[in-house]
This record gives sequence, C-alpha cells and structure tokens, in this order.
Amino acid sequence: MKTPLQILDRFKARFGTAASIFRAPGRVNLIGEHTDYNDGFVLPAAIEFYCWAASAPRRDGKLVIHSENFNETVEAGLDSLSPLAKKHWANYPLGVAWALHQARKPLTGANIYIAGEVPLGAGLSSSAAVEVAVGFALVSESKHGVDRTELARLCQKAENEFVGARVGIMDQFVSCFGRASHALMLDCRSLEHKFVKLPADLQLVICNTMVRHELASGEYNARRAECEEGVRILQTIHPKVRALRDVTLSQLQDHRQELSPKLFARCRHVITENARVKSVVEAFHRGDSKALGPLLQDSHRSLRDDYEVSCRELDLMVEIATAQPGLIGARMTGGGFGGCTINLVESAAVSNFRRNVAAAYSSKTGLTPEIYVSPASEGAQKIALEEYNPAK
Ligand code: GLA
Repeated sequence: MKTPLQILDRFKARFGTAASIFRAPGRVNLIGEHTDYNDGFVLPAAIEFYCWAASAPRRDGKLVIHSENFNETVEAGLDSLSPLAKKHWANYPLGVAWALHQARKPLTGANIYIAGEVPLGAGLSSSAAVEVAVGFALVSESKHGVDRTELARLCQKAENEFVGARVGIMDQFVSCFGRASHALMLDCRSLEHKFVKLPADLQLVICNTMVRHELASGEYNARRAECEEGVRILQTIHPKVRALRDVTLSQLQDHRQELSPKLFARCRHVITENARVKSVVEAFHRGDSKALGPLLQDSHRSLRDDYEVSCRELDLMVEIATAQPGLIGARMTGGGFGGCTINLVESAAVSNFRRNVAAAYSSKTGLTPEIYVSPASEGAQKIALEEYNPAK
C-alpha cells in the first residue's frame, strides 16, 4: 500500500506545491449481481485497495491530471470538457468534473495526481475508485456542498454519459459509503442502506482469474437491454411494474409463455438473486455461516446458467475453491466474463486455501492467479496528513 507522504512527494515533484490527499476504495460484491440496474438489492464491501488522488486548486479554469499508472498527463479546459479516445483512463476523472459542471457545481481548476492500487480490469471497481477519489478531491477544493449520495450519483452519471458504460450505482455507492468490517446492503431504488457486520472468524478472499474477455462491456449493455425488454413485456400484464425488482417469481412463472426462454432466464436470475441477497443478510444476522454457502453457490449457478455472464475460468476457480477445507461459499463477483471470484473462508484455513487454489488453478490453466485477502474497509476519505507526519 502506498503512503500518503509518498504521494505528496510525487505531487510536489510534478506540480511544485503542497496538496491535499484523498483516497477511495475498490469493492468486492458478496452477493446481488446484475441487480443494481434493476432497482434491486446488493451486498458489496469496500476493500483495502485504494485509488489515491493528491490535489491542489488552480484558478485558471484548467484541470491538469497526471496518472501514475499510465505515466501520462492530460490537460483540459473546464468549459470545454469532452471525452478522449474510447477507453482512455482520463475519461473517468474528466467525466466527474463534467458531471459536477452539469449539476451546476462549477469548479475553478485543479492539479491532480492519481495513483491507483485497485487491480485494473479485474472487476474490483478500479474505475469507481478513480471517480470517487477525484470527485471527493474536486468537491473538497470547491465551496459546493455535495454529500456522499450525490457524489455517488454524479460519478455514476460520469461513467454512464461521459465514459459510455451503462453501469448501476453499486460500485460508486460503496466506494463512498464503505465501512470497516462491514458489508453494505443497498436498496438501489431508494438508496436506503444498512451495514451488515461480517463475522470476525471469516475472511474475504478474492481470486483473480487473470482473464478479461473482450465481450464484457458489450454483453453488459446487452443484459441491461434484455432486462428492460422483460420489464416492457411484464408491464403489459402488471402495469405497476417499473423494474424487475417489482416482479415476484410466481408472477414471472405465470407468464412464462409471454417471454422467450432467454428473457425468462434473465428475469429469473434477477428475481431470485434479489431474494438471495435478503437471505444472506438474514444469515449474517443469525450468525448462521453454514447457510451462506448454498446461497453463494446458487448465485454463481444462476449467473452461469440463467444470466450467462460467467466463463470457463470463473467456473473453474469456483469449482476448485469449493473443494477446499474451510470454504464457506464461493461465486463470481462483479460484471463477469473474467475478473474475480469472492470466497468466504474460515480465517484459520486461509493460507492453505490460497496455496491450494493457486496451485490447482495454474496447473489447469497455465495462468498464475493473484489472490487477495482484504478486510472490509472504510469508504472515501480525506487523509489527515498530521497523523502521518506529526513532526510538521
Ligand atoms: C459492474 C457494474 C455494477 C454492477 C455489476 C454487476 O460492476 O459497474 O454497477 O452492475 O457490474 O453486478
């Protein structure tokens, strides 16, 4: 992990002044996959992998942003922000400035140094971490009151309308609101949320398949469109339905004939996944770890068979994990088509679990997986530098 003083030094070397430091975490989703854009429920936790942003104000209406990861600096005028090439890293921070401007929160300019530690393209929300860290920095440098909920929404808007990815609110929300040792259950319609304490004797173990299949973003948007199509059809029968969140499993089953087999399966995933989120939260509250395993396995199966967003490597990673002692439950996490699995593992079994899973996965695929163990962490924050440098 980087220290704030390192970031401060690098900022000074580049921009010649002091700076304030902010950081925002990536996330892992315990359960509730592809439910956020269906007004449903999710249960993510922020993780101890951060995007750091050092920033100092400018008064000339310019944003000058340096990315340590890409070793590149981008300069843009605040009054003429438009996206760079597709997939360019700077679209995320520029998009947040654009969204603030759209929300009538004008900025005066800033120098920003970004250093991201969240593995890129692994499905752990490195993009939300960048958006929220930069958004937090920009808002703190300005006089605008923007609360965390509004910041999460603006970061989502940046990604939807500036970057061009139709993501839901989960990643930005948990990056803003995460709490140490807790997962966050979010109602993605009302944005009401509650924290769910994670058992002290279990660890979150994240296994990176090290593959990212190209279909990811196209298929993501296709799944959204299929859900919208399902809602359109079901609305003709139940006019009060606004999203798949409003449909019960028995209503869906009653109208199976009206939907193609594919649309039926997509809707079934979302409806059953919402129910599983609630069951997992209840199991945590009861302290009933044994109940978690089947719910996580069912979620994986539903994502694989009904929603069709898993892949060979994710299935294999889950299968290998399931055979290990101390495994409570495992499933793919995030958008799918590669990236990571989330594994709830008994603390005492973690080191053997890591070793065995890594060995079995590489012998079957020839790939060396990365395996991260992270406690649930705090959401975005400004770093109080005195704590790190009490002498000054
Ligand atoms: C991506 C998106 C989220 C969510 C997940 C799937 O991570 O950014 O909004 O839709 O996929 O649960």
